[in-house]
Amino acid sequence: MAVIRGMLGLAAAWGFCVLVFVLAVQPHHAHGSSRGSFGLNKGVVTPPVAGICASSVLVHGYKCQELEVTTKDGYILSVQRIPEGRVPGGGNNRRQPVLIQHGVLVDGMTWFLNPPEQNLPMILADNGFDVWIANTRGTRFSRRHTTLDPDKPAFWSWSWDELVSFDLPAVFDFVYGQTGQKIDYVGHSLGTLIALASFSEGKLVNQLKSAALLSPIAYLSHMNTALGVVAAKAFVGESQHDRNAWFCQQITTLVGLAEFNPKGKPVAKFLKSLCAYPGVDCYDLLSALTGKNCCLNSSTVDLFLMNEPQSTSTKNMVHLAQTVRHGVVSKFNYGRPDYNVMHYGEASPPIYNLSNIPHDLPLFISYGGQDALSDVRDVMLLLDSFKFHNVDKLSVQFIKDYAHADFIMGVNAKDMVYNQVVAFFKHQNQ
Ligand SMILES: *[C@@H]1O[C@H](CO)[C@@H](O)[C@H](O)[C@H]1NC(C)=O
Ligand SMILES: *[C@@H]1O[C@H](CO)[C@@H](O)[C@H](O)[C@H]1NC(C)=O
Repeated sequence: MAVIRGMLGLAAAWGFCVLVFVLAVQPHHAHGSSRGSFGLNKGVVTPPVAGICASSVLVHGYKCQELEVTTKDGYILSVQRIPEGRVPGGGNNRRQPVLIQHGVLVDGMTWFLNPPEQNLPMILADNGFDVWIANTRGTRFSRRHTTLDPDKPAFWSWSWDELVSFDLPAVFDFVYGQTGQKIDYVGHSLGTLIALASFSEGKLVNQLKSAALLSPIAYLSHMNTALGVVAAKAFVGESQHDRNAWFCQQITTLVGLAEFNPKGKPVAKFLKSLCAYPGVDCYDLLSALTGKNCCLNSSTVDLFLMNEPQSTSTKNMVHLAQTVRHGVVSKFNYGRPDYNVMHYGEASPPIYNLSNIPHDLPLFISYGGQDALSDVRDVMLLLDSFKFHNVDKLSVQFIKDYAHADFIMGVNAKDMVYNQVVAFFKHQNQ
């Protein structure tokens, strides 16, 4: 469990070594299918016969449709729709669509681990919303492409820039096309960053009614996780010199893999050996990495571990590490000015200027006092970019005891957060 949870904070540690090796993840340099080379580990994500609807939704008495969306760059994404609550309201009322977007290293299943009375999609459905669940490219139900093979490196040549450019627009177009209505959006973690980046470029906003951002990440410089602290120590400490070299070597090995598979051997081995560091208590790495979640049910955590984590691209992890290190929200840095010029026509990667998010976009932001990934100081930086936002269009909620995972799995998340999200959306619809 510790090892798996460790993935969530890994990006923090990478910032210190990874730039040197960034070129390794370019398509023409990438080598070695992670799946093929894992040997012992065959366990990459064979989708269970049952999809999310069958395993987690229909069984609770909700309608649910499995749908497919193809992005402009050819990825075939799985989307679930829960069109109404268990007790369908009568009449021809058109239901307001809500799109729910998960974070990094998990998939849409992560929203369904608590019982219906406690999980966000079903609470929204029971409140009369038409609920749509996104599954990011690379996760087990979105591991398909019109031409590329997920066992080959080329399938994994993307970072969250492509989620901004392709995944989100494809799913927005689809939901908007099917419903003919502007969308309410809920994002958690990376699902907030990609939304903020999109909105800042003026994308999606014509199809968007409002957005609720839970455990928001954008700036990451203060991410205060065990791995981050370890890496920082290794970076400055003389006596840690050998460890630092070792650390960077491990990173190089990982970065050679195009698919970042948390269940694969290289990643697991790397994390396991990190536990040898003084001060990293892997017994409680969950708390050390996501912050001390106040309110998780251990049965739900077990369910989480059976279903997650999911693969992402190594390039995506590198991009996140760059965000930690550089303290700005910008596109992927190819690590050399000439490479950046090749991709962007500029020596540095273009920034996403969050101040450009339309000032009249209704936003609800909820963040936790114990969240090590979405540190309070970083949330303050994010809020600072909203200082010219219309005051009546921005609601901010602070939950002192909450950490990163409480927002998706907290037993009391309904009372703490989801009721507020429902009220916020209903308010926009009046
Ligand atoms: C935790 O989950 C189990 C299994 O779903 C359930 O029986 C139990 O009541 C839950 N506890 C709380 C506090 O929600
Ligand atoms: C971001 O945009 C705002 C206003 O649109 C501008 O004042 C600011 O200088 C921009 N920031 C950067 C870093 O370009």
